[in-house]
Amino acid sequence: MNSIYERVSDINRTKMIIFKTASDLGHQLDKYRQKGQAIGFAPTMGALHDGHLSLLKTSKSQNQVTLCSIFVNPAQFNDPKDFKKYPSTLEQDIYKLETGGCDLLFLPPVEEIYPDGVTEKKHYDLGYLDTMLEGKFRPGHFQGVCMAVERLLEIVLPDNLYLGQKDFQQCMVIKRLIQLMGKENKIHTNICPILREQDGLAMSSRNMRLIGEQRAKAAALYETLNFLKQNLNKGSLSDLKKEATTLLQEKNFKPDYVEIANAKTLRPINEWDSRTNIVGLVAAYIGDVRLIDNMILN
Ligand code: PAJ
Repeated sequence: MNSIYERVSDINRTKMIIFKTASDLGHQLDKYRQKGQAIGFAPTMGALHDGHLSLLKTSKSQNQVTLCSIFVNPAQFNDPKDFKKYPSTLEQDIYKLETGGCDLLFLPPVEEIYPDGVTEKKHYDLGYLDTMLEGKFRPGHFQGVCMAVERLLEIVLPDNLYLGQKDFQQCMVIKRLIQLMGKENKIHTNICPILREQDGLAMSSRNMRLIGEQRAKAAALYETLNFLKQNLNKGSLSDLKKEATTLLQEKNFKPDYVEIANAKTLRPINEWDSRTNIVGLVAAYIGDVRLIDNMILN
């Protein structure tokens, strides 16, 4: 077994077991299944914060066994610079998971997830989710998410999957993936609320890359969503979206989008009937750091 596994078990900090191969993990999971124990799974890309840990906590309260994975998925980074700069804090991550009571950690090398190589691409029919909002500004991103998540779900076959509302569109994409896999009756998806810093900034691994002034200004994303919520009226929403965009620009953000959409379908809404459930979604750069956030508006 690999060095990390041995080191952690040597010092015997907690009972969390770390796996690097799908087959070792699969054998362990089979043992729980044979005992009829429910398995909860929270996939991550590491650089863990309290938002990630809230998924772990929820899973622990609903399952006998909780598994987290850390895999920085090269296939979902449409911008290679973003991939290179993606923070890695493995030592601290392992410590946080252990102290949070995680039972199993899957830490696969790239070959375990992509035995045929990362370039061997499969196409997932995600419909318009693939080409709008995040799909539009990060072409290929959700196809890459699906590649990794499909493989992870095939390996883990969890009873419960834990995802964060922070990535609103990703939740819809992964639900669609589970349908495409024909597993919607086997894998139950649980969407956990967005955890925020005191000033409202949604917790994100990318926040570590914000420097000085940028961090202080970053709460503008949350303020923009609150602005949408407070100024929402029946009828046309286009002026409201424009005003919110200006608000972000004034705080030195470069917005990719400020959108109000149907919370069930994610179709943009320009005329609101005051009854349909709607969600505000923003994506914007501060310096070279791209942040996203969302809020249910009614
Ligand atoms: P990552 O960005 O590490 O996020 C892992 C999970 O944590 C996702 O479900 C995400 O929505 C959730 N999360 C992130 N910030 C959160 C916050 N502030 N509050 C609550 N939950 C939060 O999303 C990914 O990784 C990847 O795309 C992945 C699904 C692992 C596939 O590679």
